[in-house]
Amino acid sequence: MVIKLHDLYFKPFISEHDIDEAVKHMVDAIATDLGDEMPVFVGILNGSFMFVSDFVKKYPKPCEVTFIKLASYEGVKSSEDIQRLIGLTQDLTGRTVVILEDIIDSGNTLEEVHRIFKNENVKQLLIATLFYKPEAYDKDFKLHYIGKEIPNKFIVGYGLDYKGLGRDLPDVYQLKTTQHMTNIVLFGPPGAGKGTQANFLKEKYDLVHISTGDVFRYNIKNETALGMLAKSYMDKGELVPDQVTIDMLNKEVEKNADAKGFIFDGFPRTNAQAKALDELMDSKDSQINGMIALNVDDEILVERLLKRGETSGRADDSDEAVIRNRIKVYYEETAILQEYYSKQNKFFGVDGVGSIEDITVRLSTAIDKL
Ligand code: IMP
Ligand code: MG
Repeated sequence: MVIKLHDLYFKPFISEHDIDEAVKHMVDAIATDLGDEMPVFVGILNGSFMFVSDFVKKYPKPCEVTFIKLASYEGVKSSEDIQRLIGLTQDLTGRTVVILEDIIDSGNTLEEVHRIFKNENVKQLLIATLFYKPEAYDKDFKLHYIGKEIPNKFIVGYGLDYKGLGRDLPDVYQLKTTQHMTNIVLFGPPGAGKGTQANFLKEKYDLVHISTGDVFRYNIKNETALGMLAKSYMDKGELVPDQVTIDMLNKEVEKNADAKGFIFDGFPRTNAQAKALDELMDSKDSQINGMIALNVDDEILVERLLKRGETSGRADDSDEAVIRNRIKVYYEETAILQEYYSKQNKFFGVDGVGSIEDITVRLSTAIDKL
């Protein structure tokens, strides 16, 4: 479940269980290395309170626990002010001190800790951090114990906050990368002019048009593994399982990772597919912004398609009964999807009768509002 703290969205990243495992490993490693030496564990507030608490509860031997706090410590901004140490009152001369940090990012805090402990005459200063961002760390201090390396993205939970919120969460969440993507599901009955409009829209909004039919034909023609898999179902006269289609779409989306968004055409057609598409977009830290359906009166469609059949020679465009059945199937599918997307306030019907330009303008108006 995505959570919102102030203005930002975060997605689940490391579960309570996985955190617990990482803490256990750190305890084991440190207890083994220290043997009978009685350490002083020093937590750096505020972020480390939860980690320190869980850590010392698991620590198998007697130990001392204390906390220090560095001033100018709140918020997301990496502080450039001089940090002041608060709370170090006890004499640590000759002691083995293990710093317990929740997270090491740039290493600025750690640098300050080293500066402060330089004058303490400790026997040894060991650094243990639950989370570590190697891409962000630009110092040379040795990190003796690392719970988990993570990518250079902002996280919250398990003691870590965003502007004061999130410290209480037992799991860790990661900031959703704000991708300003506009992803549209374009729907319309046969003959509504979807293809024509998709071409205009992809130019205008710099979107990538993904037609499932085209993706299928491409994969089968190029004999990709997924194409062959899809074909094996089609050859048996069976429907291609949704997962195969989703895997193909995933490849298309990944191929266009820096796109401004996608126009999905021909997919989804069922509730399960709509759900799978939502999951796919979610895995890319993105979402479907809306489903736009082109509305065209049945009689106009029949007329348009029969006319197209006269020149296109497409068999399915020449028989009125076949045409009417295709339109009927469309409405059955739309009804399902209209309900799915309406529930999320993401369904938009657009009048599909008029000149191509007029319809493009109507679609653009709908898209601009997303
Ligand atoms: P530093 O950049 O290693 O000095 O980390 C400074 C402090 O910034 C940490 O002790 C945390 O309090 C905070 N911090 C760094 N990265 C994150 C994060 O991803 N989430 C929440 N706080 C963070
Ligand atoms: Mg900290």
